[in-house]
Amino acid sequence: MTGKLDGRRIVITGAASGMGRDIARLFAREGARLALLDRNESGVREVAAELSAAAYGCDVSNRAQVDKVVAEAGAALGGIDGLVNAAGILVTKQFDELDPESWDRMLAVNLTGPYNICRAALPMLRAADKATIVNIASVSALMPMAGTAGYSASKAGLAMFTKCIAFDLGPKIRANTICPGVIKTEMTRYLWENPEHTDRAEQRVALKRLGETDDVSRAALFFSTEDSGFTTGTELPVDGGFSWR
Ligand SMILES: NC(=O)c1ccc[n+]([C@@H]2O[C@H](COP(=O)([O-])OP(=O)(O)OC[C@H]3O[C@@H](n4cnc5c(N)ncnc54)[C@H](O)[C@@H]3O)[C@@H](O)[C@H]2O)c1
Repeated sequence: MTGKLDGRRIVITGAASGMGRDIARLFAREGARLALLDRNESGVREVAAELSAAAYGCDVSNRAQVDKVVAEAGAALGGIDGLVNAAGILVTKQFDELDPESWDRMLAVNLTGPYNICRAALPMLRAADKATIVNIASVSALMPMAGTAGYSASKAGLAMFTKCIAFDLGPKIRANTICPGVIKTEMTRYLWENPEHTDRAEQRVALKRLGETDDVSRAALFFSTEDSGFTTGTELPVDGGFSWR
């Protein structure tokens, strides 16, 4: 059987849980060889064992750790053709309660994390035939929401970072951003475990349901193959129609 990612060597961050884990599973089914990173080392090892992938415990905000682990991942895979930056954290607080530690941490993980990964992988991406970068931002990159000043700033920064590197790294390397709406993962458990919250969130969107990880994985696959070969520097909302109103 041939897969859409046969022969491609891809690094995925945040792969112990949620979207990163589901993207890893889909990419493995499509024939990719994978290196999976997460700060949850035992979790990422479990996913990697299931997929015969390489696994690394790594905090994406720690530049020295990222440099070491990405070099090891590149050596294990024999090069890197693609990145998916899915690691991220969410702290929701009204601005008057948004403490400096939460602000710093969200910027460090959600924005500086992908920068660290892209920077460390760049020589290997440049050496690849056609390389791709997929960054997972959020609808919070596109529209204001209460209590998300830090998170939204980090994700809007990530979307613009992605546009700028698409310019700098083209034509050989393409970079695109996915902006998910509410997707059912650990991050949003507090919301979808509460029927009242779920109902409100579903009624808010045109497609009247919350997103599944699979909705995002298929978009990540699109951006990691030549199906999106003439697309770079874009943001794709995967949100059921949350962000366009
Ligand atoms: N779930 C949603 O509704 C939603 C919506 C929009 C955007 N997002 C974004 O999607 C991405 C994936 O989130 P998810 O919903 O799958 O959440 P999740 O909590 O299920 O998974 C996030 C993963 O990232 C890892 N991680 C966190 N900080 C890290 C760090 N410093 N270094 C390495 N790994 C780290 C966690 O250990 C976890 O495995 C995140 O960037 C998130 O901001 C989520």
